[in-house]
Amino acid sequence: MPARTTRRQLLQGAASLALLARIPAGWAVPASPSHTPGFIDALIARMSLEEKAGQLSLFSSAQQDSKAVVANPLDRTADGSAQLAAARAGRLTGVFNGSNVRWHRQLQQAAMQSRLRIPLLFAADVIHGYTTVFPVPLAEAASFEPELARRTARAAAMEATAVGIDWTFAPMVDIARDARWGRGVEGAGEDVLLARQFAQARVCGFQGDAGLAHAEAMAACPKHFAAYGAAEGGLDYNRVDVSERTLREVYFPPFQAAFAAGAVTTMAAFNELSGIPATANAWLLETLLRREWDYPGLVVSDFQADEELIAHGVAADERDAARLAFLAGVDISMESGLYLQHLPALVAAGDVSMARLDASVRRVLAFKAALGLFDDPFRRLGAAGAQSRQRRSDTLALAHEAACKSVVLLKNDGALLPLRRSGQRIALIGPMARDWINHAGPWSLFDEEDKGNTLAAALATALQDPQALQVVDGCDFDQAVQGGVQAAVAAASRADVAVLAIGEPMTYSGEAQSRSEISIPEAQQQLVAAVVATGTPVVVVVSTGRALALEGPLLACPAILVTWFLGSAAGVAMADILLGTQAPSGRLPVSFPHALGQVPYTYAHPPTGRPNPQPDVLEAYTTHYRTAPNSALFPFGHGLTYGRIEYSELALSDARLAANGSLRISARIHNRGSRDAQEVVQLYVRDRVASVTRPVRELKDFRKVAVPAGGSTPVEFVLRRDDLRFIGQAMTPTVEPGMFDLWLAPSAEAAGVTASFELLA
Ligand code: NOJ
Repeated sequence: MPARTTRRQLLQGAASLALLARIPAGWAVPASPSHTPGFIDALIARMSLEEKAGQLSLFSSAQQDSKAVVANPLDRTADGSAQLAAARAGRLTGVFNGSNVRWHRQLQQAAMQSRLRIPLLFAADVIHGYTTVFPVPLAEAASFEPELARRTARAAAMEATAVGIDWTFAPMVDIARDARWGRGVEGAGEDVLLARQFAQARVCGFQGDAGLAHAEAMAACPKHFAAYGAAEGGLDYNRVDVSERTLREVYFPPFQAAFAAGAVTTMAAFNELSGIPATANAWLLETLLRREWDYPGLVVSDFQADEELIAHGVAADERDAARLAFLAGVDISMESGLYLQHLPALVAAGDVSMARLDASVRRVLAFKAALGLFDDPFRRLGAAGAQSRQRRSDTLALAHEAACKSVVLLKNDGALLPLRRSGQRIALIGPMARDWINHAGPWSLFDEEDKGNTLAAALATALQDPQALQVVDGCDFDQAVQGGVQAAVAAASRADVAVLAIGEPMTYSGEAQSRSEISIPEAQQQLVAAVVATGTPVVVVVSTGRALALEGPLLACPAILVTWFLGSAAGVAMADILLGTQAPSGRLPVSFPHALGQVPYTYAHPPTGRPNPQPDVLEAYTTHYRTAPNSALFPFGHGLTYGRIEYSELALSDARLAANGSLRISARIHNRGSRDAQEVVQLYVRDRVASVTRPVRELKDFRKVAVPAGGSTPVEFVLRRDDLRFIGQAMTPTVEPGMFDLWLAPSAEAAGVTASFELLA
């Protein structure tokens, strides 16, 4: 084991390091001659203003093999000569979203010829896999298994670091409660507890547990700080105006969890926050993040977000935009080049102090040192056997496991599912039937073409008699095709069961993909109506990157599966679930509303003064829409199994919870069905009376348990006083004694089994 130098030792001697006092585990770096105490300050002392501005300027890779096609103001030439020259001149901190290793090695060699030989960083949006594509993050959250997310993040890091990636712009930890917003697909959904647990798991997975300097560690960047998911109207980039209480209660905790797990970078969000863009928000980035939370890490802007301060109307020009972003606390400018162009002059004019500039440079250099790049700039660029680390069989097996665990069974009347492998004629109909492109989902920039990854191919392989399968597209995602519906009707009429593979294409979600309606596109709804009218039993398989408002004849179908975008193993995983080789165990991480008009929606809303006692009865002068109840059609946490689950025997260790005590909550989960099941038991709590309004239910814990067919399994939770904390009137965490209701339930709006207890003072 090499001797280790802690970050504190590493940075010893550097001035004003109070803000860097807390040392996340991942910052330990191997000792090396270049890591003598104070070497960073010694380096800074030798840097010119231009070199300092260069260390704070990140650009997209000029030679990109990835699908991320972005303009690069630094270098619009095809051969990247200007980028190479910038690296040699020390005017570049690193590049992102390229996958051309030869080019990246060339750039690093150029940086090694620069005056101070400061290594470059290589970053990328490794969101849900690299060459192996895992389910989109929202899908994976449906597994309710954070450990699964840790494992897939680790596997993604193994692939990405093999080709030189040091830093991923992930995980996205924004809470998303408005289904119109397209970026909900990148996060863990609507719930704070689930989002915290997935944030933590993904950070641990990306970074590994051997320290950031390890060649297989990829630094995480939880984003977008903050409240990007609260964009008004679900419109991407739109204003955000949420209260400080909601920020602290809902939008901040996943970031705090990610930082506690060792993340040392974060990305400022595109949006404004109550009038001040996050990129220019000193309260957010300095007062809260760096002072109140004692965050030692660095802040990178989002793509050209400093320049966008002009469009926001808070900066007069580019120089002003650079000044505002920098003074607000943004260390690295992504893509605009504004820091490179304006920081030297801003310092010379006294608008930005040298001490502030040095503090940002110090954070960036400390990050590079922590990544082990001073020690070996080619640490990740020269990985032996880089290719053999791509799409390994164990990684693909993990992609299959993750895909199966992400599928949510919304409905299964008459146990139509699973289908039989023989003796059943199946009509597979819909634009997703033969599709392979969309399984990758948004933000899969580095995957390989996999034309065999289709549901049709997987079903044909799995069925004992492939002739029993007939495949018809029926329509495109958003338009009818000539004769499509007739062919679908003919196929369905001849079949014993029709499987409708429909939904959103992947381009409907992701950045700048907000929708103004959240239903299945009209052409597909017409296809559904026609197939349902044949009378053949229908299984609907819905691909989506968001919660949808399911409506019309589709709702009458006996079985509905939500498959999101499942990645490299999508086809086989979907077929396995349909045929029962694998059983569904996923749960909705976002509530599916009755209607678009209900969004933004979350199960964890506070009661109004006029709550509607029976959601399905629209009682006058209570809270509901004229045409929709104040509840979800399929709530958060909902998902069926192939078993038949019942909850019983709820017992509390005590009716009272002492201030420093704990409460044991137990129950028994039965499976009255004939197939084994995995049940996600969810513990919800309601604080009956508090000094501020509290949610009607709030998830406090969950557990996935195996329940054998015809058997039962005990389940136990422990609740402590701290689990009941909330942001009180003084805007700080508090606990108030009193009565609480609790539920163990299969979803946020299911009855489950319930009890109450008293929290003592
Ligand atoms: C813009 C996106 O908002 C952000 O999430 C991403 O990391 C950057 N572009 C870089 O691609």
